[in-house]
Amino acid sequence: MATKEKTTWFCSSCGNESPKWMGRCPACGEWNTFVEAPSEARRKGSSGSSARIGSSTTGPRRLREIDYSKEERISLGLEEVNRILGGGLVPGSLVLIGGEPGIGKSTLSLQIPLHSPGLETLYVTGEESAKQVKMRSERLGGDDGACHIFTETLVENIIAEAGKMKPALVIVDSVQTMYTDSLESAPGSVSQIKEVAAALLRFAKGSGIPVILIGHITKDGYIAGPKVLEHIVDVVLQFEGDNRGAYRVLRSIKNRFGSTSELSVFEMTGSGLREVSNPSEMLIPLHEEGLSGTAVCAMLDGTRPLLFEVQALVSSAVYGTAQRSATGFDTRRLNMLLAVLEKRAGFKLGAKDVFLNMAGGIKVSDPACDLAVMAAVLSSNFDLAIPQDVCFAGEVGLSGEVRPVAQTDRRIIEAARLGFKKIYVSSFSSEGEKAKGIQVVRVPDVPALVRALFK
Ligand code: TYD
Ligand code: MG
Repeated sequence: MATKEKTTWFCSSCGNESPKWMGRCPACGEWNTFVEAPSEARRKGSSGSSARIGSSTTGPRRLREIDYSKEERISLGLEEVNRILGGGLVPGSLVLIGGEPGIGKSTLSLQIPLHSPGLETLYVTGEESAKQVKMRSERLGGDDGACHIFTETLVENIIAEAGKMKPALVIVDSVQTMYTDSLESAPGSVSQIKEVAAALLRFAKGSGIPVILIGHITKDGYIAGPKVLEHIVDVVLQFEGDNRGAYRVLRSIKNRFGSTSELSVFEMTGSGLREVSNPSEMLIPLHEEGLSGTAVCAMLDGTRPLLFEVQALVSSAVYGTAQRSATGFDTRRLNMLLAVLEKRAGFKLGAKDVFLNMAGGIKVSDPACDLAVMAAVLSSNFDLAIPQDVCFAGEVGLSGEVRPVAQTDRRIIEAARLGFKKIYVSSFSSEGEKAKGIQVVRVPDVPALVRALFK
């Protein structure tokens, strides 16, 4: 009688392991994310202690005896990538770049060696042929002979080759196509992805060679997304944006060597990704003065102030029930703001469709956007335009009060620098006293905002 093969279940969203299938992951709360994978016990041969990460040969040492010099980072040719990494690539680090297919991960990862002169790179591709990579590189330009292409999917071979070649950087595109000999499951399965990443982490830590790993995020739960890797790697960069639009945002979600929630903007052009060093300039209005339903928000993303346009469309509901939809903004938060408008300022938006869109396909989570969202919704509702040299930074509370937001001064300085003449902030903010070249308008609550804008 055949013995039943032992399998375990993994949540493809957070990597949580369970002996049985579950509809909802108890760890991250996502539904329908459990996928089956062979149990670790099915490793070929006896793996023993081979899974130990970065075997320590030195033993414990005093903290003060450990050398560390600040200049150890590798500076890449792409300034925005350096900045998001916290000042360059740290030797021996494992960096994951995640994103949906077609967003530009392969383009970015090939552009890094091509635009960093003299950086000896081993570019491993499991998705494209060497010819395809060559064709792409012709569009990107800048090849100085230091970039080596290796088409391979077996991680043991990659590590052996990298060990021989000793490059300054290894890039692996993509983790989903790689597999290790020590497991029998198919490439792309959760256990393979975890094992491949762990092997590359051991290699990076042991050799001091940084490894950049590319990972696809899929919307369905079948293939393990890079989320299961977030615990393993040192840095997680997420590439996002609208595939059809030209602008892409690279965001740092986790960084053991720098600050998180940093953000860089790139533009996809015919010759690769172009760094947009001043993203505010591209995210603020491109249209003529006098269009209703738009308002500019002075947001802070990570450490950098960022100004961008919020667009709203309020119209009578075509069908019985009103629709509320938001792109780049939390729909629940939009509903809350609309409820505040209704309850605290007396606007009956219940029978209206409300659509909200953040310019450039960016996703915002900064509460300071509330005020701009309200202003855009009101502007569309009244069909009255807000002047183009006006911007907003404030959070709106449930009782309709406008609350102060962090680092108001920095937002004001950036707005003034970009030529804005007026910024609306909370009356309760203690900042903004010394603003030069810009008028700071303080509003205590939503009715006061309405009066100030549309009287
Ligand atoms: P790609 O890097 O292959 O995406 P990913 O690896 O994330 O799946 O590229 C995505 C898109 O970028 C592709 O549709 C073609 C486009 N593209 C340009 O517009 N300009 C360029 O110079 C290159 C190389 C690609
Ligand atoms: Mg690709």
